[in-house]
Amino acid sequence: MDSLEANIEPADFAPRLIAWQRTHGRHELPWQRSRDPYRVWLSEIMLQQTQVSTVIPYYSRFLARFPHVHALAAAAADDVMALWSGLGYYTRARNLHRCAQVVVQQYGGAFPQTVEQLAALPGIGRSTAAAIAAFSFGVRSPILDGNVKRVLARIFGIDGFPGDKRVETAMWALAESLLPADEVSDEASGEASNDASGDVRQRDGAPVEPIVAYTQGLMDLGATLCVRGRPDCGRCPFAHACVANLTGRQRELPAARPRKAVPTRHTMMLVLRSADQVLLEKRPPLGIWGGLWSLPEAPDVDGLAARAAQLGGAPVVLAPLAPLAHTFTHFRLEIEPRLAQLVGEPRAAVRDAQADTAWVRLDAIGDYGLPAPVRKLLNALDGTLL
Ligand code: ADE
Repeated sequence: MDSLEANIEPADFAPRLIAWQRTHGRHELPWQRSRDPYRVWLSEIMLQQTQVSTVIPYYSRFLARFPHVHALAAAAADDVMALWSGLGYYTRARNLHRCAQVVVQQYGGAFPQTVEQLAALPGIGRSTAAAIAAFSFGVRSPILDGNVKRVLARIFGIDGFPGDKRVETAMWALAESLLPADEVSDEASGEASNDASGDVRQRDGAPVEPIVAYTQGLMDLGATLCVRGRPDCGRCPFAHACVANLTGRQRELPAARPRKAVPTRHTMMLVLRSADQVLLEKRPPLGIWGGLWSLPEAPDVDGLAARAAQLGGAPVVLAPLAPLAHTFTHFRLEIEPRLAQLVGEPRAAVRDAQADTAWVRLDAIGDYGLPAPVRKLLNALDGTLL
C-alpha cells in the first residue's frame, strides 16, 4: 500500500460517519430489531456474499423454522440445506450448522462475547466476528469486508488489490485507527437527533451505541452510496475528502483482482423421469454443492447412458436439453443435461454408502436442497416430454 494521501483526520472520520448513518443509513432491516446474537450471527453469515434483498426472505424462513440456536443445533443437516438452497456458497450452511452445535456444546447455547472467541467458531472470520460483537454486545472492533475495503480504498486513495496480504494488513491497521472513541458525544455526531434528548434509540428504548451506528454506517455507505458501479458521490459525507472523488479515480479504486483465467469444467447431468417424478442424487458431503440434492452426473454420453440404465433398471433414450453454465469462485462449470423418460416401473431408489438417490415428484422438489442451476433446470422442465 502506498502512503496515505488522506484528506481527513482519523479522529474526524467516525463522528462524520455516525452522523450520516443516523440520518441517512438503514434502520429497518429485520435483523436490526434485535441484539440477540443468534439473529445477528445468522444475518451476518447470510449477508457474507449475498445482498440484503435476497437475504431477507431466507432470514425470515430460517428464523421461523429455527427460532434459536438449540433448534438449529438439533436440526437434520438436510433440513438446514433445504432452507439454504438458492443462497449459494453452501459451505456457509454447513458451517452454520456446525457452529450452532459448537455454541450449544461448548457454551451452553450462549454465544461468546469476544471477537477472538467468536472468530474461533466455524464459518466466522475476523470481520464477521467483529460485526457480531459490535451489534450484539457493543464491542469496539473494526470490520473489513469487501464493501468496507472499497470505501477505505476510495476515501484514503489506497492502491493495490485489497485481497493482497500486504494491502489487507494495512487496511486492518487503518480500520482500527478509525474506530470511534469510546465516548463519541452527541454534539460530535451533529445531525443525529431523533428525539428531544438528541440521541437515537432502538425499538426497545436502548440508545444505539456509537460502535453500532459506526459499524452499520460503514456497511450502509458501501451498500448504498459507495457502490462498485456508479458511486453516488454527490450524497457522500466524505466527498470533500475522498481521494477517489477528488481525483476522478472511482472506477480505478479499489484495484481489481489481477486477472487469472478461470478454468472451465464440463459435466453431463441426467434428468431421469418416471411419470411426474425425477431421480435426484445426493452429492457427497465434501466438494462443490456438498450435501445438496442434485442430478446424477457422468463425464460423457456413454457414462451417462450407463448410469441411466443402472438407475432406471431398463435401457433408456437420452434426449439433449439446453446446456447451462454456472460460475464458481475458481472455475466455470458447463452442464450438458440429457432427458430420459422411463416406461414401466422405476427401480426403487437406492440408499446406501455409494448412492443416495430418491424419486421425487417435480412439484415437491422445493422440499429438497438443490443447487440453484439444477433447480432452474428442473423448474423449466415442467411438461417437457420426450
Ligand atoms: N452486510 C453485512 N452485514 C450487514 C448488515 N448487518 N446489514 C446490512 N448489510 C450487511
